[in-house]
Amino acid sequence: MDERYQAAWRRSLEDPEGYWGEQAGALEWTRPFERVLDTGRPSGQWFVGGELNACHEALDRHVAAGRGEALALVYDSAMTGEIQRYSYAELTRRVAELAGWLAARGVTPGDRVLIYMPLVPEAVMAMLACARLGAVHVVVFGGFGAAELASRIEDTQPRLILTASCGLEPGRVIEYLPMLEQALGRITHRPDACLVLQREAHRARLDGRHQLDWQTSVTGSTPAACQAMPATAPLYVLHTSGTTGRPKGIVRDTGGHLVALRHSMSTVYDIQPGEVFWAASDIGWVVGHSYIVYGPLAHGCTTVLYEGKPVGTPDAAAFWRVAAEHRVNVMFTAPTAIRAVRREDPEAEKLAGHDLSALRTLFLAGERADPETLVWAQRKLGIPVIDHWWQTETGSAIAANCLGLAEMPVKPGSVSVPVPGFDVRILDDQGEPLPPGEQGAVALRLPLPPGCLAGLWNDDAGFARSYLERYPGHYFTGDGGVLDTDGYLHVLGRVDDVINVAGHRLSTGEIEQVLAAHRDIAECAVIAVPDALKGQLPLGLVVLKAGVARPAEDIAAELVAKVREDIGAIACFRRCLVVERLPKTRSGKILRGTMSRIAAGETPAVPATIEDPDALSAIRTRLNNVGEEV
Ligand code: COA
Ligand code: AMP
Repeated sequence: MDERYQAAWRRSLEDPEGYWGEQAGALEWTRPFERVLDTGRPSGQWFVGGELNACHEALDRHVAAGRGEALALVYDSAMTGEIQRYSYAELTRRVAELAGWLAARGVTPGDRVLIYMPLVPEAVMAMLACARLGAVHVVVFGGFGAAELASRIEDTQPRLILTASCGLEPGRVIEYLPMLEQALGRITHRPDACLVLQREAHRARLDGRHQLDWQTSVTGSTPAACQAMPATAPLYVLHTSGTTGRPKGIVRDTGGHLVALRHSMSTVYDIQPGEVFWAASDIGWVVGHSYIVYGPLAHGCTTVLYEGKPVGTPDAAAFWRVAAEHRVNVMFTAPTAIRAVRREDPEAEKLAGHDLSALRTLFLAGERADPETLVWAQRKLGIPVIDHWWQTETGSAIAANCLGLAEMPVKPGSVSVPVPGFDVRILDDQGEPLPPGEQGAVALRLPLPPGCLAGLWNDDAGFARSYLERYPGHYFTGDGGVLDTDGYLHVLGRVDDVINVAGHRLSTGEIEQVLAAHRDIAECAVIAVPDALKGQLPLGLVVLKAGVARPAEDIAAELVAKVREDIGAIACFRRCLVVERLPKTRSGKILRGTMSRIAAGETPAVPATIEDPDALSAIRTRLNNVGEEV
């Protein structure tokens, strides 16, 4: 293994204070930290006593350094055909003005502001304006339905909500205000007001009291200055799916996060200030938080905000057009997106005519990258394609080919090696380390490096239960995997009930909650079934209450519609089978894992603890035919 990488990684574990203390020197601290690492809390606290401001790091400091005219953000909408370009100076001006309006509406440090918006520049401005004031932003993905939105509002009790009149999906306009009304109808919390960005595709009717027009309200507000915040203060809460029916509010701190992101921009992505970084994601996901907004901007890069799809807007050349037009140097997307492009344009003929000479590297993450897709992209683009692995909780990559240290050989199917700061262990059920080549649970030895979750919003017990208790002294990632004899990590997928659809993390528990609330359903289970494009898709299995005589197809259709309404179309929940019984263990646990493996064409051993083997046999036939049946 490369010596430079080895030395950096070793040092990060043997002398974390030295390693990260040096990295922190890249930031402008308004008050220096007293300690690099405080291990008083189990997962560690970074840069205690220090103060800084995340918006200053992302914007003002570049302007102050004379780079005000450098390009900060390029917005490219395949949905409207618009392209907008913002220099660092202009983006700073717009963000300061919005922050001024928020402050005038009473937003103070620590207040929560919820952002439910499509991928438009104002959404990025909203995040940065909150950061400027030390307010905690809570971004909710624009594709989530009323129930998901409601639970996030209720959990974080935002003072204000920032939204837009609509989002744009191919062939469809998504109106946000009715969704917001529905969400508020389910809960007791009331924000002071909603600021609504009017988009041309659909202008919403606003009441003018609680629903305020963005343009007229914000324009001319007195700009707000950056508020110095403790390094340990929360910058944002971002909810993600867990194994329960309730999303987990991941809390990200300020100082550690920015140190980790700056570090990753150079160590993992090997990109220089002034170059162009494009994460084809959404600000509703962690990739958007880290690599559309804070990472590239804090590093002084140009970030690309693309509103559109890899295919269909208008065709499979969309990514190549954007990358060529904006001279993208480093790109990041999900394997599903590349699979979609490949499916439509197997020979990559649509690359022709697009000058991708600036593009050095393509990074993939969010789900397993199948080797065929990775190798296809590598061959067609003629550049390294790097799979790297991380999660909402860690905020940046746990394992990657760290190009800024050394370009190591790419092994398709592996996410390469631990990033400095991460001590990756493979553990057996008892928490004992397993030797290379043996599969187990992937855990990270504590303390976690800077930038990882500081906890769960309002749920310290849940933080300990979900991540820290299973393997004492370690953080449990929820993934299974294996380290090979070269020290490369292979991630084999979740070992819990979280599923991954098109690189989006979904909880089977949340979908089950929607199904279980239907009047005709006695019990239910949601499992993952393989899908050639999206990796996995959810499949519902429901048992009807005794005496229900309505046609199974009608009930299944109602359930599909309800999941779409409550969770959102993004769940891709389109298939639901009515079954006689669900197979369970003697203690009553539904055999979701076993059923998933059957649906994937495997023949898993029947668990010794099974209650009713006939129930499993009956369902096996249905699952084996799942493609034809639904
Ligand atoms: N707002 C509202 N609805 C949304 C939405 C949003 N922001 N994003 C997606 N949806 C809807 C879609 O319109 C679609 O609705 P439909 O069922 O009526 O068609 C549904 O959610 C599923 O969306 P999507 O996964 O985008 O599926 P698709 O079939 O329309 O497109 C791909 C297929 C491959 C193009 C798409 O899945 C894709 O781009 N995947 C990569 C995603 C990605 O980058 N993930 C990683 C994030 S880090
Ligand atoms: P999220 O928190 O939404 O980013 O989802 C994180 C989960 O996605 C991880 O726990 C993995 O299960 C999966 N994941 C992300 N990146 C990869 C990858 N490169 N390879 C395999 N699985 C991945």
